[in-house]
Amino acid sequence: MTAPAEFGAALKNAQTTISAFAETRLSGGDTLHAAMRYAIAGGKMLRGFLVLESARLHGVSQEAALNAALAIECVHAYSLVHDDLPCMDDDDLRRGQPTVHRKWDEAMAVLAGDSLQGFAFELLAEPVVGEHALDLVRSLAKAAGKDGMVSGQMLDIAAESAQQPLDLDQITRLQQRKTGCLIEWSAMAGAVLAGDNTEPLQRYARALGLAFQIADDILDVEGDIAKVGKALRKDANAGKATFVSLLGLDAAKSRADDLVQDAAAALHPYGGDAETLKQAAHFVIARDS
Ligand code: IPE
Ligand code: IPE
Ligand code: MG
Ligand code: MG
Ligand code: MG
Repeated sequence: MTAPAEFGAALKNAQTTISAFAETRLSGGDTLHAAMRYAIAGGKMLRGFLVLESARLHGVSQEAALNAALAIECVHAYSLVHDDLPCMDDDDLRRGQPTVHRKWDEAMAVLAGDSLQGFAFELLAEPVVGEHALDLVRSLAKAAGKDGMVSGQMLDIAAESAQQPLDLDQITRLQQRKTGCLIEWSAMAGAVLAGDNTEPLQRYARALGLAFQIADDILDVEGDIAKVGKALRKDANAGKATFVSLLGLDAAKSRADDLVQDAAAALHPYGGDAETLKQAAHFVIARDS
């Protein structure tokens, strides 16, 4: 899709800035650094964008925000590198390129993922992040770990061999952990860094995260592999319950529309300043990759 001009420019700016910072910070000449750089590159960087945009809304310094933005892109990249491994989803294509274990090998993919996760926390613990760094460290550890993304991944794997397909409540809980937690952390990061009230951004991100996952499920059914850059039609083939399989395509789309309205409403306290985040919510469900 063509994104609205304001959001399109802000997303592009986030991609350029975060990518350049990643190249600088991970410039080492060995294979591990090369695999880490490769894993970070080529994504939409929506999570990093959310960090930078929420930081802007809360008057946080660009340096602190950039460390946090790269940190979340590292955790996200690590989650994808491991998600693509043969013992997980066994995928060969990511962002239109061979997955890390296909480009190198499985051991390198495990190690690159491991070190991306460690590096994320290194970035958050640097002095430039400021007095609320520990809050970000603690909340990211929670969002990424045993009660967050990893637990969502575990539920997802367990669902593949379950006797009964999951129901809507179970899917919603699973996706909230698998996808929602990292998106929520990203959107709240600016308020956390400033020591401000995180509630409006949390409400925004809860709706956004769910809408994002519904869009991922819709893309799995309707997407064009040349644009999405990863294997599609996997959910139905694996007999997996998704928002689309449970609701049907039309109801899934209208649920995603409602969530975008909810996300926009949550931004009310920010007034016109939050226009870019509102546009981001529209982008999340209209995207083709
Ligand atoms: C893909 O996330 C994995 C999910 C959580 C559904 P993105 O669609 O944000 O992936 P990239 O980073 O843009 O490749
Ligand atoms: C993976 O979900 C999300 C995480 C890595 C946490 P999926 O397995 O649905 O993501 P894609 O479709 O491979 O991007
Ligand atoms: Mg998966
Ligand atoms: Mg996958
Ligand atoms: Mg998916």
